[in-house]
Amino acid sequence: MVIGILKEEGSENRVAMLPESVLTLTKMMVTVYVEHDAGLRAFSTDADYEAAGAKIATKAEVIAFGEMLIKINPPSESEISLMKPKTVFLAVLNPFFNKELIIKLAAKDISSFSLDVIPRTSRAQSMDILSSMATVSGYKAVLTAANSLPKFFPMFMTAAGTITPAKLLILGAGVAGLQAIATSRKLGAVVEVFDVRAAVKEEVVGLGAKFVEVEGAVDDKSAGGYAVEQTDDFKKKQAAAVHDHAVKSDVVICTAQIPGKKAPVLLKKETVEAMKPGSVIIDLAASTGGNCEMTKNDETVIYHGIKIIGNSSFPVEMPTDASKMFGKNVINFLKLMISAKGEFTLNWDDDIVKGTCVTHHMEIVHERVKAMINQ
Ligand code: NAI
Repeated sequence: MVIGILKEEGSENRVAMLPESVLTLTKMMVTVYVEHDAGLRAFSTDADYEAAGAKIATKAEVIAFGEMLIKINPPSESEISLMKPKTVFLAVLNPFFNKELIIKLAAKDISSFSLDVIPRTSRAQSMDILSSMATVSGYKAVLTAANSLPKFFPMFMTAAGTITPAKLLILGAGVAGLQAIATSRKLGAVVEVFDVRAAVKEEVVGLGAKFVEVEGAVDDKSAGGYAVEQTDDFKKKQAAAVHDHAVKSDVVICTAQIPGKKAPVLLKKETVEAMKPGSVIIDLAASTGGNCEMTKNDETVIYHGIKIIGNSSFPVEMPTDASKMFGKNVINFLKLMISAKGEFTLNWDDDIVKGTCVTHHMEIVHERVKAMINQ
């Protein structure tokens, strides 16, 4: 089969596959076309891709030759218009927030797979691009906070006196939150953590942080490892507890999300107003509304002397390793779809293949996406 790797547009620095992943694909008997300069911002040249066995081509040629096209971000209007019916398209489509795009892909008879809806099962762990990107985000969030804080992170005993360690509050201990704990602990900060899933307490404590419990959280085991919407009573209790801990913290890192929904607001305006001037809030949930009431997506706001960084796209700032992880996840997913002879096969009995497909044969086939669109 022929796979095309498209160049990302706008401020995106990553590429869906680095040359090392392309090499794996060519060894799987796949012919790979890569759009001219696709990897340049992730520090891979066309020559590197050619050395890995790829052919370099224009966007129009990649789309014309590719039976399957791979990208990180959703396709642009012009890319969709160039696609021929029955093309297989893989990207992070964010389908719950991109209704019009999904309808368009179905109408054009594109078989689309959204890598952000890969089922969260043990077998799918090696394909989980959300985990990979959350790892980058958690790490970068801490480094950005350390860089923005007018204080040290670690404790120092110096001739000029003792410097006390920075206090961090992390809201949400999923993949990004756990990575943020690990990174900030390595830098010597004291860390406290909130989450609504009791299952993460052990991991939080194991990483050297304190888990702050608020009684009465709804922890739905059937939600596939994800958090669910909380009751109003719990929200009030949690806001009060978060307030008490946030006002004593130098840094708050917000990572709490509920899949397909607006992020929960955990840091209220009055809490920010009561925080120490010079403190830093990094809101990784900014693109879905933010955990902090004052967050502005893709902006840095100074409010009452508190720096609020609304950044949900840290992986863009670390394109080499983010692209490397993304490409490896995609290869692991493709192994479910490519035969030993390099031929494309769609196995609908495979729960991962089925659970990731959004549109096929002009229909929206993903049950949750279909339900959202028909609402
Ligand atoms: P996420 O990005 O959806 O949410 C981040 C964290 O915020 C979660 O831990 C969630 O419980 C927490 N949260 C949500 N609402 C909150 C609230 N009101 N207050 C405090 N915390 C709140 O989650 P992420 O990082 O994508 O993954 C969550 C879990 O999914 C993982 O810890 C793991 O158990 C599971 N997972 C499974 C995978 C697999 O088996 N293939 C791959 C990755 C994750």
